[in-house]
Formats: sequence, structure tokens, C-alpha cells
Amino acid sequence: MAKSTALDDLTKAQAKAELAMLARELGAANNAYHRDDSPVMSDADYDALKRRNAAIEQRFPDLKRPDSPSDQVGAAPSETFSKIRHSIAMLSLSNGFDDDDIVDFDESVRRFLNVGADSPLVYTAEPKIDGLSLSLRYEQGRLTQAATRGDGTTGENVTANARTIEDIPETLTDAPDILEVRGEVYMSHADFSALNRRQEAAGGKPFANPRNAAAGSLRQLDASVTAARPLKFFAYAWGELSAPLAETQSDAIARLAEFGFSTNGLMETCDSVTGLLEQYRRIEAERPTLGYDIDGVVYKVDSLALQARLGFRSTTPRWAIAHKFSAERAVTKLEAIEIQVGRTGALSPVARLTPVTVGGVVVSNATLHNADYIAGRDSRGTPIRDGRDIREGDWVTVYRAGDVIPKIEDVDLARRDPGSKPYVFPDKCPICGSDALRAEGEAVHRCTGNLICPAQAVEKLKHFVSRGAFDIEGLGSKQIENFFEERWITEPSEIFTLKTRHGDDLLKRDGWGAKSVENLFRGIDERRSIDLNRVIFGLGIRHVGEQAAKLIARHYGSWTAFEAAMQAARSHEGPEWDELNAVDGVGPVMAASLVDFFHEAGNARAVDRLVGELDIRDVAAPASSESPVTGKTVVFTGTLERMTRAEAKSRAESLGAKVAGSVSARTDYVIAGPGAGSKEKKARELGLTVLSEEDWLALIG
Ligand code: IVH
Repeated sequence: MAKSTALDDLTKAQAKAELAMLARELGAANNAYHRDDSPVMSDADYDALKRRNAAIEQRFPDLKRPDSPSDQVGAAPSETFSKIRHSIAMLSLSNGFDDDDIVDFDESVRRFLNVGADSPLVYTAEPKIDGLSLSLRYEQGRLTQAATRGDGTTGENVTANARTIEDIPETLTDAPDILEVRGEVYMSHADFSALNRRQEAAGGKPFANPRNAAAGSLRQLDASVTAARPLKFFAYAWGELSAPLAETQSDAIARLAEFGFSTNGLMETCDSVTGLLEQYRRIEAERPTLGYDIDGVVYKVDSLALQARLGFRSTTPRWAIAHKFSAERAVTKLEAIEIQVGRTGALSPVARLTPVTVGGVVVSNATLHNADYIAGRDSRGTPIRDGRDIREGDWVTVYRAGDVIPKIEDVDLARRDPGSKPYVFPDKCPICGSDALRAEGEAVHRCTGNLICPAQAVEKLKHFVSRGAFDIEGLGSKQIENFFEERWITEPSEIFTLKTRHGDDLLKRDGWGAKSVENLFRGIDERRSIDLNRVIFGLGIRHVGEQAAKLIARHYGSWTAFEAAMQAARSHEGPEWDELNAVDGVGPVMAASLVDFFHEAGNARAVDRLVGELDIRDVAAPASSESPVTGKTVVFTGTLERMTRAEAKSRAESLGAKVAGSVSARTDYVIAGPGAGSKEKKARELGLTVLSEEDWLALIG
């Protein structure tokens, strides 16, 4: 340890040098202590260095390093992670399960780009790492931020934790000024077993699999715990960039490797579907000996220019797909069939199983879908499992693919108890006793008890507080069930009046201390001000998913406009009804479900009570305020000659326009190519602006 100059005598240059040295020494000491279990200095020396570091930083605040030891290991754990909004959303991948899905993928890419089946199209193929994704932000070559994926838009700030991972460089040379590197944090099989042995020896609970262990280790409030866990990182993508990395995916990854990131050595480029499938089989064959978990192979269009043209669907890129490995299976006994009632009243049969391990995870429940599935036929009456039905007491094969809910694949008739009886699907709701009806052409039985059915009410509440909806911290499914049982919360508005009504009672409850009660009410209060799309989604209206809610919110902009439109469209006809149907992503079924929801007096009153508690934020039309078509509704009809219909739609949407399927008085532009028919005619009758493809391209530049 160098002898230190008195603080007051330090020049700025000396201070800078000493801070660098302290970061290095303290970093090494941390690793030795936490990672290698072999300390290189006494606690007292360590503390003295940390104090010296803090004192210099206090005197020269602008010299504080991004990797300052004050922010790292040993720092007092913060209460929760702060949130980071991703500058570019972190998306997921669409999945394919068999060769045909990959053939379809290639066809859809070619169709979109209008590339013939005979022209070469290069893809990359690489393992899909089974860990958790992380986005690392570098500014001027220094790591400034690390964030988990979260909901794709906002993740958790795990910067201090990420700095403890060896595979993650602290500084980069010759990198763009702004570079966000994305990839997967994972744990190797060997490190996972060793960690579990240590956990068990210390009386802790072992992790179920390496993925959980990696997630649990990264999301530690105390970064010193993360430092002691052997995490690894593969870089495979990027977010914001101040300068392009390369012209192709494969070259961009090669550059990330030059910067010092670990990249996966099994990535190959292939110029045909056959090549992709061969690479899939090679990787699948190596899977058992890789030493870390992978759950499929990811294919990406190699050319970045083509990736840009292909763009994104709402949550997945069009230029990539994950080809998943087939599911893992196990045989076990089906002990009972139970019926759960969901928020829209659907009766879902669930198989209670004798617990069994399937691909490293203990499974004790599986979905049985609906009455037909149990009876051994699909919705059209065609036999499945060669018509074998499923009964309580049967021996069944369970499988799970990725994170999805386990399913029952087949039943072993040879082991069936001769006295067993076919399962009779209930015609009454098991919770409220109302009739459970199966509508013409539908697969599910639905409880007709709507507003009186407690199961529907509690599921609606759980949905209301869930992640894409109100996402209330401290109020999850368990708390909702308890509060509902007490009748403290029976509808969403009552969440916001809970404090006045039962704040004091809650303090007297087992399991609730002053701190947790305070956190709960803070969590609730934080959500009084909320975006319109979360409210629309939170209402739990059948058929209205998170994406649809966003599109609807963008269209109407404000709660007042939205609610007025729903009321005005109640008769399922007229301009407001047409407008709703013309919103991108809304079809007649969803439109009817929305309008009928508001038409129901009990719902309307409950919504009024809720809205009275909230400050609903308007949602603006997305992005590029520059674009001349932002907020405009456009309809494409006829043949386009310069690009495919899909590409035209995607381009228009990225410029902030809404693309509708049908022409109405509210359409702004109709782009008519050769062969346009009734839509163009209607547009002219309505006196709308009709553009040729050339006019349109000129308009959007
Ligand atoms: S590319 C725009 N490549 O899989 C999407 N993802 O199911 C960019 N993942 O969220 C992702 N290995 O966490 C990509 N080689 C790989 C991957 C990979 C694992 C994860 C990633 C993503 C998820 C989607």
C-alpha cells in the first residue's frame, strides 16, 4: 500500500491516480474475499482504504470513478433496485418448435422483403442461452449502467452487481461513444453444483436450476453476494449505438469479441434453411457437453440493412426466431382434476399430479385446457391422442417446453384402473354455483355469475395489480387473496381507499409491520397517477391484451375520449363503432367485448368509482414528431410495387401512422396501387385523399 499524502496537499492529478489505485486494490481485495474465499488484507486495512477513497471523492467529487469502490461491494444494500428505462426496448423472440416453423420463418422473411426462394439469404445460427438478459451501457468506453430486461421497457438497475462479473469489461477501447451491449447472464453446470453444495452446507435452500441461480445471484441488493457467485456473460446483441458496429450481425458480434466480450463460439452463418437445420442438429448434439444450459438455437438475418427493413412486430423482431429444443418428459400419476375459474369466468381444468422432476424442475400441476382436451378430441371434434380420454387416477406423460405451463401429452391405458370412470366436466361454477355454459363454437365453459362470482372478482383483482397493468409494489396475488377474503378489497377502487378504511387494522395483522404497511401504501399511492394504457389493460376486459390496450390508448389519447367513444358505440353501429373497429389491432370480437363491458351497468359504476381515485395520464401517439404522417390513419389497397404490403405497413407505423384495414370517414390517406377496388371507390365517395405509392413515398420522404 502506497504511503498517502495528506488530503489537503493532494493535487488533482495525484488524487486521480490514487483513486485509480484504490479502485484496483479494493477490487482485488473484494475478489479475493468474496470470490476466492482467501482474503489478502485485514478487515481494518480494507476499511481504512475505503475511508481514504471516500474522503478523496468528497474533496474531488468530479473525479469519482464509475467503478468507484464506494458504490460497490460492501456498500449498504439499497432497499430496492432503482428502475432504468431502456433507450431501446429489450424485446423477446418468437419461437419455432419444428422444422416446418423454420421453413415458414424463412418464407415470411422472403415474402416481406420480396426476395425469391432461389436467391441466397444469409442467416446466423447460434445457441439460445438459458439465462437472463442484461443490457450494459458504455459511454466513452466506460461501463455506466447495467439493467435487467424487466418488462422490456423498464428494467432494474443492477450496475453494481454487473461490475462484479468477470466477463463484463469495465472499459473498452475504440468503441463507439455510446454502446449498449446486450446478452445473457448464466451460470455453468459446474459452478451451479458447487454453489448448491455451499448453499446446502450453510443450511440454505438449493436453487432449482442454473437459470434460477443466475437470476437469484444477479438480483441481489448487496452486490458483495453477487461477487461471490460465479456468473458468466455472453454478448449476442446491442441496443443504442452512436455509430454502427458493422454491416452484418456476424461482423458486429466479432467486434464485440474484439472489445473483450465473451461471444458464443458456436455461431455460424448459413445461407439456406437446410444449413440452419443442420447447424441446429450440430448444436443439439453438443448440448449435453457444453457445460451450460441452452434451450434452442436462434436464427437471425445476417444483413443489418435487411434487419432494419424487416423491423419489429409489437414485441418480437421479424428478422429472428428461436428454434426451441423439444420438450422434456416424465411419467407420473394424475391424482385429481380440479377446476379453476379465471377472471373472465373461464373454467380451466388443472391436473394435480404426483410431483415429478421434468428437466430439472419439479412439476405437480399441468393444464388440461378444456373439456374436449380431456375427452380426447380437438375443438373440431377430431380425435387427439387417438381419442384416448384422461381420467383421475391415470398414469400420464407430462412435458414442459421452456417456461410454459406443463402439459399432459398422453395417457397409459395399460395402467388404467378398470373401475375408473370418464371425467364429467361440471356444468356449474364450482365457486359460485352459477351455470357454466359453453357457447356455440367455443371450447371453454364459462361461469355466468360475472359480478357475483368471487373467483372472477379475485382473479380480476390479481390481473389489475399485475405487471402490465397497475403493477402495485407490495400488492401481489397473495395479498389480494387475503384482502379479498376479509372483504377489505372486493373491487379495484377499494385498493385506493384501503388505507382510510383499514390502515390501522392492517398494522395489527400478523406478518405486517410498520415498514411493510408503509411500503404497501406508498406502492398504492405511486399508482394513483397512471398511463391510460395500463388502466385499459387493468380492467381485465376479455380479449383486450396488453398490446391491444396500448394501441387503443394511443388512438384515443385520453380517458375522457376513450370512455365517451365506448359509450357512443354501445349499439355496435355508427361512426364511433366504425372508428373503434378501424383501430389497428382491434377486430370485431374485441370491439364488441370492449363496448359491452362499458354497457354493463355494474361495470360502468365500478369503473367510475375507480376513475374517481386516479389521475389518468394521456398517452401520446408514438415517436417521430417530425413525421408528416404522425397520428394519421392510412389504408393501403391494391398492389404496391416498391415494397411488400407488410413492409409498407411496418414503415408507416414506425413513422407514427396508424394503419387500418378498412376505409372510414376518419381515414386520412388511402394509398391505392394498381387493382385497387372497393376501398378506393369508398375513399373517393367520402372525399378522402387518395395517393399513389409514389405520392406516398414522397410524402414520407
Ligand atoms: S437475440 C431482439 N440471441 O432469449 C431480441 N437472444 O426468448 C434479441 N436469448 O430475451 C435477442 N440467447 O434473453 C438472442 N443468442 C441469443 C439468445 C437470446 C438467449 C434470450 C434473450 C431473449 C430471449 C427471447
